[in-house]
Amino acid sequence: MANANGTNLRKSTTCISMLWFCFSWLLLSQTSTSLDTLSPGQSIKDGETLVSKGGIFELGFHRLGNSNKRYLAIWYKEAKAFSVVWVANRETPLLDSSGVLSFSKKGLLVLLNGKNSTVWSSNKTTPAQSLLMQLLDTGNLVVNDTQSVNYLWQSFDSPCDTLLPGMRIGRNFSTRQDRFLTSWKSANDPAPGQFSLWIDPRGFPQLVLRNGTAMHYRLGSWNGLRFTGTPQLPAQIELFEYEFELNNNGVYYEYEVKGNLMSRLFVNRSGFVERFARENQSNGWRNLYSAPLDQCDKYSLCGAHMKCDIIGDLPNCVCLEGFVSKSPKNWSAGCVRKTPLDCKAGDIFRSYTGLKLPDTSGSSYNMTMSLAECKEMCTRNCNCTAYANSNIKGSGCLLWFGELADMREYNEGGQNIYIRMSSSKPDQAKKKQIGIIVTSAILVGMLVVGIIVCIQRRKKSMQGMANGIHMNDNENNEGTEDMELLTFDITTITKATNNFSRDNKLGQGGFGPVYKGTLPGGQEIAVKRLSKSSGQGQTEFKTEVILISKLQHRNLVRLLGCCFQKDEKMLIYEFMPNKSLDFFIFDQMRSNYLDWPKRVHIIGGIAKGLLYLHQDSRLRIIHRDLKASNVLLDKDMNPKISDFGMARIFGGDQTEANTNRVAGTYGYMAPEYAVDGLFSMKSDVFSFGALVLEIVSGKKNRGFSHPDHNHNLLGHAWKLWIEERPLELVDHMLDSFATFEVLRCINVGLLCVQQRPEDRPNMSSVVVMLGSESSLPQPKQPGFFTERNMPEAESSSSGHGSTSVNEMSTSFLEPR
Ligand SMILES: *[C@@H]1O[C@H](CO)[C@@H](O)[C@H](O)[C@H]1NC(C)=O
Ligand SMILES: *[C@@H]1O[C@H](CO)[C@@H](O)[C@H](O)[C@H]1NC(C)=O
Ligand SMILES: *[C@@H]1O[C@H](CO)[C@@H](O)[C@H](O)[C@H]1NC(C)=O
Ligand SMILES: *[C@@H]1O[C@H](CO)[C@@H](O)[C@H](O)[C@H]1NC(C)=O
Ligand SMILES: *[C@@H]1O[C@H](CO)[C@@H](O)[C@H](O)[C@H]1NC(C)=O
Ligand SMILES: *[C@@H]1O[C@H](CO)[C@@H](O)[C@H](O)[C@H]1NC(C)=O
Ligand SMILES: *[C@@H]1O[C@H](CO)[C@@H](O)[C@H](O)[C@H]1NC(C)=O
Ligand SMILES: *[C@@H]1O[C@H](CO)[C@@H](O)[C@H](O)[C@H]1NC(C)=O
Ligand SMILES: *[C@@H]1O[C@H](CO)[C@@H](O)[C@H](O)[C@H]1NC(C)=O
Ligand SMILES: *[C@@H]1O[C@H](CO)[C@@H](O)[C@H](O)[C@H]1NC(C)=O
Repeated sequence: MANANGTNLRKSTTCISMLWFCFSWLLLSQTSTSLDTLSPGQSIKDGETLVSKGGIFELGFHRLGNSNKRYLAIWYKEAKAFSVVWVANRETPLLDSSGVLSFSKKGLLVLLNGKNSTVWSSNKTTPAQSLLMQLLDTGNLVVNDTQSVNYLWQSFDSPCDTLLPGMRIGRNFSTRQDRFLTSWKSANDPAPGQFSLWIDPRGFPQLVLRNGTAMHYRLGSWNGLRFTGTPQLPAQIELFEYEFELNNNGVYYEYEVKGNLMSRLFVNRSGFVERFARENQSNGWRNLYSAPLDQCDKYSLCGAHMKCDIIGDLPNCVCLEGFVSKSPKNWSAGCVRKTPLDCKAGDIFRSYTGLKLPDTSGSSYNMTMSLAECKEMCTRNCNCTAYANSNIKGSGCLLWFGELADMREYNEGGQNIYIRMSSSKPDQAKKKQIGIIVTSAILVGMLVVGIIVCIQRRKKSMQGMANGIHMNDNENNEGTEDMELLTFDITTITKATNNFSRDNKLGQGGFGPVYKGTLPGGQEIAVKRLSKSSGQGQTEFKTEVILISKLQHRNLVRLLGCCFQKDEKMLIYEFMPNKSLDFFIFDQMRSNYLDWPKRVHIIGGIAKGLLYLHQDSRLRIIHRDLKASNVLLDKDMNPKISDFGMARIFGGDQTEANTNRVAGTYGYMAPEYAVDGLFSMKSDVFSFGALVLEIVSGKKNRGFSHPDHNHNLLGHAWKLWIEERPLELVDHMLDSFATFEVLRCINVGLLCVQQRPEDRPNMSSVVVMLGSESSLPQPKQPGFFTERNMPEAESSSSGHGSTSVNEMSTSFLEPR
């Protein structure tokens, strides 16, 4: 028995070692298919793959769609279907599974079909002793040998539709080798399609998306931070590093990823440049960027010397100031100077801001010149029509000759250009007049003019507004005498609002009720009817009329007209179907509707609107009552700042003023304003910061309470920030959001509500910070940290369309 037992034992050991052998063999063969290298004599057949060392990329045969066509391709291992990043035999598919990749005798990488004929090869003969092909974790397939310092061949040199981090496109000036991306022909055909992303080497090189050989969208020239036509490049500062290299040897563009991110930029087959990124396997691919953004990006949609802007959803071309259109109905015809140039008489240069720089394919450049040298250079050459810094940080020189093409206007991230103009220019004097001003004193003077403001306007103009198209506001609109505003007849308004019926009432502002109305043509309007009893109504009314009629920005509510009749004073606005921001963010149910991207969009829009008020409009305007209920939302949830009843105009160099009638709203007032009556752009910035924190948190600053402390929302946000758990501030209704964007918003919000006005950024910095590439400063402690150090005050004041009494603006006398 013992013997028998022993035999049994031996048998089972043998069996186990057999199994072990089988297992190891399996293991071995397993690893042999997931190697990352291929040597001469070895091959990869259909069904086998190489996997890069870190398991990120995979190389193998890929079958597309239902056809039998197979391609040697590289893809992200975890997302093959979505992310083929490179294809070898783009135009020569294998028609069955007989494909084999190996080294030829000459040292080429060759892809053979079942008939041993070459379908694709690496096309670079360098016979070498010890060749090795390797798939790297960067997605680069390289051929190397032990002797060479550089790769003998690499797939990064033959881009398809995808630019991976570390890969370059561009041109080698000496070899004239040109690398660019080309879209696939169709979803199942990787052959080169019609769109390509290419660096145009003419003049000052620019990145261009081509349709065939025609320019389709000009991403434009590199400005040191980004391409001039991509200001919307989202806040990807933490994620990417961009590199644009231009020297005597060549021009190249590439990007690197910071940290642990997978990213791909590619040209899709419908003609868009898209960037996707993914943090890890559990997160999906996110689209971080896609362009062209809108119709204004279409190359040369507007003719020479025009700028394109989007109004509503439609592109609108207008002449640059100082130019008139050649043919009013034909944008392509472009614009010409009002006064022809006269080089001998001495031309001047006029500065234009916030633009996408014009096509540089005919320009010349010098990267080391200063702006002054640049101007000098342009002045000396009568053929030079414009100059600009090549680097947005204020260096380098670009010179244009001839017409200036393909410009557009940006609210954010645009650039400056100086355009040659005749020195005898009629509208120069006018501008000066406005330049001087002032606060209330001149405001009074303007009030007189204000009455003249309401001039009957042609019916046609009204039509234009109904379609959401700006009036041609680029010409002759500098002086108040040019201001046109539609006067409505009281009977029209009475009819439109159904005799100011209860059902049409939208809300009650500090100065009176707001009604919804419908004009005979069907256009919806909001009518602000100033109560006869409101003692201060007159002044505020006229301020608002004058101010708002001058302001044209997509993030400001548009005043359509006014109505002075009998005792009635009314303002007619465009109607905002989605009410105001407070209606959404502070409501549990409705806040669901404001997902994170919408909130970011709203924050950005408010910032742009406020920047326009502060810096970009012809006047410098302090709003003084920015708050959630004064931000209205249009049908697409675009924010529009409203209620200019308390706004003040500042003169050119004036930065702050004092008032003895402090007016504003609890929770949004800066300390120096509430306490000392000092208002400035920085007090608006404070309100903006409070608003940003409200939008992020979904909570009101005023009335905020927390079981653990007595701070208001600002104090709470600050506390979380210094305790390094800022994300706890985020609205619980938001189930997904981009962490880096949230952090950026909180950081900006806190910078804006800092105690000392001089510490707060101005709105142009805010706009830059919200969408730029730099790391942000650390905020200091906010003003009005706790609710308690708010001064007590008496009430009553404005509020267009504001709904709740608690949100009403407050004004009180200066406590001195
Ligand atoms: C292809 O080449 C291999 C090796 O050189 C050879 O064994 C095979 O028979 C060839 N096949 C055909 C179809 O010629
Ligand atoms: C690679 O192939 C192309 C045509 O397919 C040819 O024009 C080019 O000269 C080749 N380059 C080299 C280095 O062999
Ligand atoms: C090629 O391989 C050799 C030997 O392994 C190595 O020293 C060299 O750096 C490699 N070349 C490149 C470009 O990686
Ligand atoms: C351009 O091509 C030349 C010749 O092949 C090469 O020596 C040089 O390194 C290339 N320049 C760049 C920046 O790749
Ligand atoms: C690309 O060009 C073709 C041919 O000119 C044209 O038909 C097509 O509409 C263009 N595509 C786009 C997206 O502009
Ligand atoms: C190309 O990109 C645009 C913009 O992101 C997108 O709308 C479109 O669906 C994409 N086309 C394809 C074929 O993926
Ligand atoms: C993936 O990324 C998310 C967000 O960055 C992180 O919370 C999660 O832990 C990551 N998962 C893995 C498997 O790394
Ligand atoms: C518009 O102007 C362009 C450029 O001057 C011209 O080629 C085109 O024919 C004009 N179109 C119409 C409809 O007049
Ligand atoms: C660029 O400008 C600098 C400074 O004016 C000058 O020294 C240099 O020669 C210029 N370079 C070229 C290529 O013109
Ligand atoms: C200006 O342009 C004219 C015509 O194109 C040319 O003849 C002339 O030489 C140019 N002048 C300068 C200074 O470049």
